[in-house]
Amino acid sequence: SVSVDTAATGPTIDPSMYGVFYEDINRAADGGLYAELVQNRSFEYSPTDNRSYTGLTSWTSSATAGGSGTAATVDDGARLGERNRTYLRLALTNPTGGTFGVSNSGYNTGIPLEAGKTYDFSVWARTDSTTGTPLTVTLRDAARTTAYASPVSVAVAGDTWRKYTGTFVASASTTSGRLAVEAGGTGTLRLDMISLFPRDTFKDRPNGLRKDLADKIAALHPGFVRFPGGCLVNTGSMDSYDAANAYPRARSYQWKDTIGPVEQRATNANFWGYNQSYGLGYYEYFQFAEDIGAQPVPVLPALVTGCGQNRATVDDALLQRHIQDALDLIEFANGPVTNEWGAKRAAMGHPAPFGLKRIAIGNEENLPDQYFANFVKFEAAIKAAHPDVTVISNSGPDDMGTTFDRLWDLNKAHGTAMLDEHYYNSPDWFLQNNKRYDTYDRQGPKVFLGEYASLDNKLRNSLAEAAYMTGLERNADVVKMASYAPLLSNIDYVQWKPDMIWFDNNASWGSTSYEVQKLFMNNVGNQVVPSTATGSVAQAKPITGAIGLSTWATAARFDDVTVTGADGGQLFADDFSGDASRWTPLAGRGSWSVQNGEYVQSDTGAQDTLVRAGDVSWHDYDLHLKATKTAG
Ligand code: AHR
Repeated sequence: SVSVDTAATGPTIDPSMYGVFYEDINRAADGGLYAELVQNRSFEYSPTDNRSYTGLTSWTSSATAGGSGTAATVDDGARLGERNRTYLRLALTNPTGGTFGVSNSGYNTGIPLEAGKTYDFSVWARTDSTTGTPLTVTLRDAARTTAYASPVSVAVAGDTWRKYTGTFVASASTTSGRLAVEAGGTGTLRLDMISLFPRDTFKDRPNGLRKDLADKIAALHPGFVRFPGGCLVNTGSMDSYDAANAYPRARSYQWKDTIGPVEQRATNANFWGYNQSYGLGYYEYFQFAEDIGAQPVPVLPALVTGCGQNRATVDDALLQRHIQDALDLIEFANGPVTNEWGAKRAAMGHPAPFGLKRIAIGNEENLPDQYFANFVKFEAAIKAAHPDVTVISNSGPDDMGTTFDRLWDLNKAHGTAMLDEHYYNSPDWFLQNNKRYDTYDRQGPKVFLGEYASLDNKLRNSLAEAAYMTGLERNADVVKMASYAPLLSNIDYVQWKPDMIWFDNNASWGSTSYEVQKLFMNNVGNQVVPSTATGSVAQAKPITGAIGLSTWATAARFDDVTVTGADGGQLFADDFSGDASRWTPLAGRGSWSVQNGEYVQSDTGAQDTLVRAGDVSWHDYDLHLKATKTAG
């Protein structure tokens, strides 16, 4: 029974308490939330992003009958821009007919197209042919047997870069289309930024977001969006910032590289091992946050890299430059159009301020003293120029025996307004730590739980998270913000799991953790009402009686599992975790072996104890058993 003390009042809950943490991990952006359908559109992929890459990754040469030529990626003085340097050079040798060019295979299984939908094509091009170069652009299958739309014709004229556009209406649906750009005639044709967007983006914004994914995030009604990382913000942050060193590879993740006309933006080696375009950049993040009614919470690097790198900068000039970047970012978000950075925001289409109220410095830096020394410099500069903006420090969790504990102590002593905690743990940990914030110092820094998740995508994990969130909410006077992490994962490019929303190139689906987050975010109370619960918690039932013949039986939260009288048959056990290492203790008992990912015991004998409580780390998981013999 639950007793509610209606006479008493607990802490006030901020309407923006629950939000999302967006990071470009698991290819969340290109091939995901960013609606661009062409992979490596600007030919900037390079082995420095990923050893398997070339400038032509995801492109193949293609020709019609009689057409020929060569295709190469080039970075020379003819480039489209200082930050977008590499382009495609086609040497065309089609004097008597035919066309030659390239085709793009998109992400996952190919370019997804839906019958009846409109797609916007664009390309930047120049030609040295004095008569011009005709381009034929098609949407087709890889084998060239099926066309998915009428071709688009483009006449390229002149040897200076110009943008050409065209529109397709798909006549059939596919998940494995190709975009082919083929040219007739002779001469040198230069192409860059070959792009295809569905017209139907979130809020119909050009250079916009994939609708199904953005809709799923919007349906959460998050109070804030933390972006762009995560470890990603530490990417190359201690590398020299000078233009001479910064390009052709941008190296460090700099927000200024991500704004302005899209064809002038850099791409970068993503922390998670692939190339990321900056098509989805800071302007788009702010716009998205505004579109879904969430506060933007950008994270900037503190020049003390965590995430396994453990280095701190000793370059004060570089540090000052990053501090200036933080100040400029606040002007970009909030400044008047007369300000240099406010003017850039206005030029991109948003003269009104975005209303930035919070900014976070750093991510998981485990050199506490070095981080803190930098943090206070950022904080002092921001507070002096923008006293209304809360500067969030980085901490890691308190009192968990890690180096982050010291960061908490430093921040407490300093009087830091808010700290960003992160933790990923087992469901049991979340259940056992429901009271974590009950004892936090009410006078100390407020908590931004910027990253947390129970370590799997099963119902049990989400229930543990939901239970834990009641503890966050009970302590809403201390825990001011919380976001599950990570938000997005492309099923074919998984660097990290569990994740909240999964997708491939044409579909997306929320995990049970997504449903939990949605439930909480769509039902934020305004005040905690103290309550107590009494009574015993029902235990899940073990398997009793006969185990099904070739049908899995389930023991939830089992203790000892004893099987009696299964002599002569085979007994299969699995926890469906997909993690064979969890079964090591089991494999050591009796004659168990692994077959096809399941544990099998032949001729089990009259009685066998399979596992005992506490034996195995997967005690948190359900155990499933089935037999090949009905006896026993
Ligand atoms: O959420 C995935 C990663 O986990 C983040 O990039 C990092 O901050 C944490 O370690």
